[in-house]
Amino acid sequence: MANSMKGIILAGGSATRLRPLTKVTSKQLLPVYDKPMVYYPIETLRQGGIEEMLIISSPEGIGDYLKLLGSGKDLGVRFTYEIQDKPEGLAQAFLIGENFIGDDSVTLILGDNIFEDDFSDAIKSFESGGRIFAKAVSDPERFGIVEFDDNNNVISIEEKPANPKSNYCIPGLYLYDNTVIEKAKQVKPSERGELEITSLHNMYLAEGNLDVRFVEGAWFDAGTFESLWEAGSYMRKKAVQE
Ligand code: DAU
Repeated sequence: MANSMKGIILAGGSATRLRPLTKVTSKQLLPVYDKPMVYYPIETLRQGGIEEMLIISSPEGIGDYLKLLGSGKDLGVRFTYEIQDKPEGLAQAFLIGENFIGDDSVTLILGDNIFEDDFSDAIKSFESGGRIFAKAVSDPERFGIVEFDDNNNVISIEEKPANPKSNYCIPGLYLYDNTVIEKAKQVKPSERGELEITSLHNMYLAEGNLDVRFVEGAWFDAGTFESLWEAGSYMRKKAVQE
């Protein structure tokens, strides 16, 4: 690695889709089988060799993360905490995290994204540009979508398109070099008023610096009752089999 890799776990938002489960608790602390949800993305980063992690959550939620996770010593990592005053978009993580990132590269993982794969190779081999992932889904209009040509070159990236050009969704794990901070400063709010992660991908794509790999194993965006239940049930089945 040319420089070291830091990690950001984005665990804010208001999670209205999961009310009343999220009325007094942050979504990413809800149980997924035998662990709070946020343990899974933390483990994905830790497995990738990332030791310094920034937890970003809402003013209401941040205290619970500190209570649960503390310094990170028990897990062999170091946690820093920052508040996102309002859920103004995923790309805001790089503005809030500017000091934490310093001169390093950064991997952002969404606190409600649960991956089965081990991404050590993708994280440890990262040098520059942007690296995102793709996974075929049956409900592409819910996600960021990447379209490929016959040689797997990226043609387009769109956020929640009404008419998706492919069924390859971009899950919530993103690797970026240090230029992501300057790029995030250029992102303008979208029609829904958010700083979209998709805008960052498009900037890297325009520069010819975007690399896409495929997710092989299971992946859950545990943001709905259905997917939250499925994630827990999948993890239970795995644990029982082991
Ligand atoms: O799960 C993958 C998808 O995540 C991607 O395919 C999309 O491109 C990306 O925009 C995102 O879509 P979602 O609709 O799932 O984003 P959502 O607004 O639900 O936010 C994802 C997580 O990040 C959620 O746990 C809440 C948290 N969040 C969200 C926003 C907008 C924050 O902590 N702060 C925020 O400002």
